[in-house]
Amino acid sequence: MSIDGRHDIEGLQRIGAIVAEARDAMGARVASGVTTAELDEIGKEILDRHGARSAPQLAYGFPGATCISLNDDIAHGIPSARVLRAGDLVNIDVSAELNGYWADTGASFPVGEVSAQSSALLKATRQALHDAIDQARAGAPIHNIGRAVERRAKRCGFRVVRNLCGHGVGRYIHEEPQVPNTFQPRNLLPLREGWVITIEPFLTTRATTAVTAKDGWTLRTPDGSRGAQFEHTMIITRDRPIVLT
Ligand code: CO
Ligand code: CO
Repeated sequence: MSIDGRHDIEGLQRIGAIVAEARDAMGARVASGVTTAELDEIGKEILDRHGARSAPQLAYGFPGATCISLNDDIAHGIPSARVLRAGDLVNIDVSAELNGYWADTGASFPVGEVSAQSSALLKATRQALHDAIDQARAGAPIHNIGRAVERRAKRCGFRVVRNLCGHGVGRYIHEEPQVPNTFQPRNLLPLREGWVITIEPFLTTRATTAVTAKDGWTLRTPDGSRGAQFEHTMIITRDRPIVLT
């Protein structure tokens, strides 16, 4: 969506703060021995308390309030009795709707002590998101975002998942435009003031695509390599974006 005044900003800020609260509360409970269903319950309680509705449930009939993905599962993992173990990477993605406004956020967390490579992957992916946010301003071509993500991945020795993108958001969970995480020189679409988008780089130790698992939901690397993702929803301005999550 493109915002039209103060009312839209406030509506987006409200739902943005709620999904961020759920992400952080769930992240704070990440520990060895906890199941992904237990984490999901924490997120669900926060959404319920604010009267917000889970976006994946509402839009797609997803079997969980939030998406929780472990290791080589990199997105849209279904909360279950699966137990977190020290050394795992867990991605928590929370998106929800309130009063017709939608916001989307995600973060990856280490479970206990993780390998040096996994720790570096988390750091590089978080930095890729920040590098991309630094490029996101009105008038800039949208490909600046993918270029920043790819540069950071290369510099840190990781790869970018090419078939998962950021997206427009605000009046629905997935709107135009797509926000690629790879550099597409011919995609000169300019970012416009007031656009509401997500930026969500997915970096891995090896794979450059994600494939759908047999459950029909989970997106996973085809080669077992690990991935990480960080995501914010933001409003594009002529200066730095207004990050809502
Ligand atoms: Co998300
Ligand atoms: Co998203």
